[in-house]
Amino acid sequence: MNQPLIDPFARAIEYLRVSVTDRCDFRCVYCMSENMTFLPKKDLLTLEELDRLCSAFIRLGVRKLRITGGEPLVRRDIMTFFRAMSRHLETGSLHELTLTTNGSQLERFAGDLYGAGVRRVNVSLDTLDAQKFADITRWGRLPQVLRGIDAAQNAGLRVKINTVALKGFNEDELFTLTDWCASRDVDLTFIEVMPMGDIGNEDRFGQYWSLKDLRAQLATRGDITDLPEKTGGPARYVRLESTGQKIGFITPLSHNFCESCNRVRITCTGEIYTCLGQEGHSDLRGPLRGSQTDADLDAAIRAAIARKPKGHDFDYSRQRADGQVSRHMSHTGG
Ligand code: GTP
Ligand code: 5AD
Ligand code: SF4
Repeated sequence: MNQPLIDPFARAIEYLRVSVTDRCDFRCVYCMSENMTFLPKKDLLTLEELDRLCSAFIRLGVRKLRITGGEPLVRRDIMTFFRAMSRHLETGSLHELTLTTNGSQLERFAGDLYGAGVRRVNVSLDTLDAQKFADITRWGRLPQVLRGIDAAQNAGLRVKINTVALKGFNEDELFTLTDWCASRDVDLTFIEVMPMGDIGNEDRFGQYWSLKDLRAQLATRGDITDLPEKTGGPARYVRLESTGQKIGFITPLSHNFCESCNRVRITCTGEIYTCLGQEGHSDLRGPLRGSQTDADLDAAIRAAIARKPKGHDFDYSRQRADGQVSRHMSHTGG
């Protein structure tokens, strides 16, 4: 019997986030620069290598697998990978297979995802205004994403919207967004903007809209009840009594949740980042390609987990963005 993956702070690692591509068909301003250079395809782990790596983590106790990118659904033949991973759902060793997507390809893939055992998708959507959507994603078109959300629901997938809370951008849409989600029966999670990537002219502290403040605004419409519910991710959930809907809050800045962190990230080139908010990482591609036995690969994974840091250093308390990491969010898939 394998020992579970436990990090130096006694946190059990049961959640693996795997980026399958650094490419995306959008260029969200807080996630990518306008002129991103993408990796040559030959540098990516092959689907077979991704399978071996994810299967190793599952053997070592990972129970939740989230596929990310870039945009995971733009990777060629990605459904082959989802179908391959579904065998771990069938044996019961994996409890959830899911993805985070910008929604642009859902119209095409929703049915296949359901067929591969996916039951829930998280879709990034920061505004319901078509012009603002085009501005923030630089390349995206809102109607395409809305059609994708429809297709996902029609295929039987539970949809959760991820909205990055941005001062001066979507503050005025708080109730438009919550009401739209309630009317569509989709869940909604707000995320505090983190100082990551090539920030350039962006003023992350200026954009920061604390979810404490956002929650207070929601409360002007009716009572809010904290829910015990967990999805195995970092969000805390509440119910808005006015509509009965569930809202999530991901609060890396206003309420640090690192103490209960259960996750690590793999990039599309096979590096492992054991914390989203730190630059430290280890290579797993070498051990993956060089190892003759699973034992060698498992040892490399355990060695990386043994270096997982306590948490991030993001901090806006000095009225500026401190603890920034220069890596783009798209590199490790959020
Ligand atoms: P659920 O399974 O629905 O709980 O999803 P999730 O929140 O685990 O995954 P999702 O990809 O929807 O995450 C949303 C965003 O939350 C990410 O893109 C990040 O911006 C942020 N986030 C997720 N995990 C972490 C984390 O460990 N640390 C920090 N600082 N932010 C995180
Ligand atoms: N801060 C917070 N969330 C971010 N995301 C991307 N960049 C940032 C950032 N700097 C979110 C996206 C998406 C998820 C993959 O990560 O909106 O929901
Ligand atoms: Fe875990 Fe790092 Fe996220 Fe904190 S910032 S919850 S330690 S991944």
